[in-house]
Amino acid sequence: MSDKICVLITEEELENRICELGKEISEHYQGESVHLVSVLKGGVFFTCELAKRLTIPVSIDFMSVSSYGNDTKSSGVVKVIKDLDESIEGKNVLVVEDIVDSGRTLSYLLENLKSRKPKSLRLCTLLDKPERRVTDVQVDYTGFEIPDKFVVGYGLDYMQRYRNLPYVGVVMLEDEA
Ligand code: IMP
Ligand code: MG
Repeated sequence: MSDKICVLITEEELENRICELGKEISEHYQGESVHLVSVLKGGVFFTCELAKRLTIPVSIDFMSVSSYGNDTKSSGVVKVIKDLDESIEGKNVLVVEDIVDSGRTLSYLLENLKSRKPKSLRLCTLLDKPERRVTDVQVDYTGFEIPDKFVVGYGLDYMQRYRNLPYVGVVMLEDEA
């Protein structure tokens, strides 16, 4: 049994856009270094591709967070599953995420990181679903704005599957296909 997946963003489109983002980000931090905070697990694929395109000195750390309770809970409380290994005090931190949906996870994460006194704090997301936003989040770099559809691939999963797809696609569930 396999779900049908319709390609939304091709591998080539992803590569081209990540290359552009790499240039833009490298220009912004020119003469300085950047500390990437990759959000596990989904942000890892994008982080690696983006990091390869940066021409400034780069360091990387990882954080894993999950929303408390179910999706209907609007408290925005997020649990830290794995914290950063290193202090971010005084560093130019760039959070790298796969997708901003409701914005709850990122809004919590950015507040949490801000309290640790980084020199600067910015957010780069591969995908953004602006229609779904319930919490205001300032996104500094966006790969692609996408419609309100559930997508997989390039780090994004459906029940832990499909993260390894080299493209971004929409899952057509068995009974819809
Ligand atoms: P938030 O609603 O902005 O807090 O997003 C929380 C998390 O939901 C994201 O980091 C993703 O892991 C997941 N998510 C949101 N939309 C999608 C999607 O279309 N496909 C797969 N995961 C998603
Ligand atoms: Mg995520």
